[in-house]
Amino acid sequence: MTVSPSTAASPLAPEWLQVPADLNALQEPMWAGSAVRSGSGALTVGGVDVQELKEQFGTPLFVMDEADFRSRARAFKDSFDAAFADICGGVDVYYAGKSFLCTAVVKWVEEEGLRLDTASGGELAVAARAGMPGERVALHGNNKSDAELNRALDMGLGRVVVDSLDELARVGAIAQARGEQAKVMLRLTPGVHAHTHEFIATAHEDQKFGLSMAADTTDEAGVSAAEEAVAVAAANPGIELLGLHCHIGSQIFEPDGFELAAEKLLRFLAAMQEKYSITMPELDLGGGYGIAYTPVDTPRPATEIANAMAAVVRSTCAELGIDSPRISIEPGRAIVGSTTFTLYEVGTLKTVRVDAPGASGDGDAGNNVTYPRRYVSVDGGMSDNARPVLYDADYSAVLASRTSTAAPQLSRVVGKHCESGDIVVRDVYLPEDVAAGDLLAVPGTGAYCWALSSNYNYLARPGVVAVRDGSARLIVRGETEEDLLNRDMGA
Ligand code: LLP
Repeated sequence: MTVSPSTAASPLAPEWLQVPADLNALQEPMWAGSAVRSGSGALTVGGVDVQELKEQFGTPLFVMDEADFRSRARAFKDSFDAAFADICGGVDVYYAGKSFLCTAVVKWVEEEGLRLDTASGGELAVAARAGMPGERVALHGNNKSDAELNRALDMGLGRVVVDSLDELARVGAIAQARGEQAKVMLRLTPGVHAHTHEFIATAHEDQKFGLSMAADTTDEAGVSAAEEAVAVAAANPGIELLGLHCHIGSQIFEPDGFELAAEKLLRFLAAMQEKYSITMPELDLGGGYGIAYTPVDTPRPATEIANAMAAVVRSTCAELGIDSPRISIEPGRAIVGSTTFTLYEVGTLKTVRVDAPGASGDGDAGNNVTYPRRYVSVDGGMSDNARPVLYDADYSAVLASRTSTAAPQLSRVVGKHCESGDIVVRDVYLPEDVAAGDLLAVPGTGAYCWALSSNYNYLARPGVVAVRDGSARLIVRGETEEDLLNRDMGA
């Protein structure tokens, strides 16, 4: 006996996934601000229809709404400036370039009054090519090379965020040898557990980033690595110690981790200022604010995050009797993530019949009841979105080239790579009549998708198109077969 697809939820679907009331709807808040269905039913963004985008640029394609990027960047800047105006005169917002970086985006960031956070010499090169003034750029990394540190000094970077005692000594020596002072922040791990995937949580003890704030039990004085770094930095003539930094992780919705980290860093900053008779004028609270990948994700608006953080900083500084340092933050995903969708073309389709979860055996639950799961193959996959494979990330998708009144069918959107784990969207209801040649759009792919893309199976990395006011322009061109073969040196 088999059960045919209906509008009822599939027993194969995860509990959180509801059958959408309208399969054609673009559910908030996963989509860029200008994404709508045009009269023809096709998905349109920035006034440009996906069919036109496919004809002009091909698929797969990252489609970024420029106005949406700018407005999300401004929302962070304006909300944090407003919330912290009376505390420290406003906030410096560093866009985390690792989430997505190219020269066009650096220009938007600068024009909107933000700064730029980089994490390698390559990201510095993009900043330099875009003409971003060095004093508005920060450099991160747990294993910066001497060449990267020299480049930071060459570019007159506003801050180098030092990650270890070893790096602190190196940056001090390099700056002294150049007869300069490096502007340094110290990245600390406050021991806060963030509610997110293990691979993207960064403030607990047992991982590679930062200087531990825990007392060192191997050291008689019990001095933490963080305190030792403050003492060393304060005494090193090659270093101008600006202050402290922490980043607790990424894709975090709950406010408590951010608040706890802010409080811990302020207490430590006050204690160190008093103990070493120094002033640390800056405190960076990192990025990590979560976005919606599926209809059940509920990100907090920037104003809410800003007000909650400001309340903690205000009360902690009052209690400690210190002036608040100048606060900065480093959002990446929350600015770029929802500005972009990936446009794919549908190819092969197949439906398998699967036992209900918990049943044993393939296609046989004992009672012979099986359920359909449709595999919808698209022309990209884990090479343009590694997040489902890396972090078990869930995504959503819609039929983009047209609307449909067909019944919902539980589907799995998969790529074209030689791996069964090559999944783009694990579970989504799509119309039953989705067919080869249709276009699918996967929202929320602005952050850590193009940035993490690869050439696995010699697939060319897709281009990135910015749409705005009815026109589309490539901001990163897609790779060609020639690009792929260029570095092959021959036999
Ligand atoms: N600041 C620092 C020091 C960071 O390491 C990061 C992200 C950010 C800011 C920006 O975090 P955001 O606001 O974008 O969450 N590839 C993973 C995320 C890795 C995050 C790396 N660091 C993912 O796709 O989920």
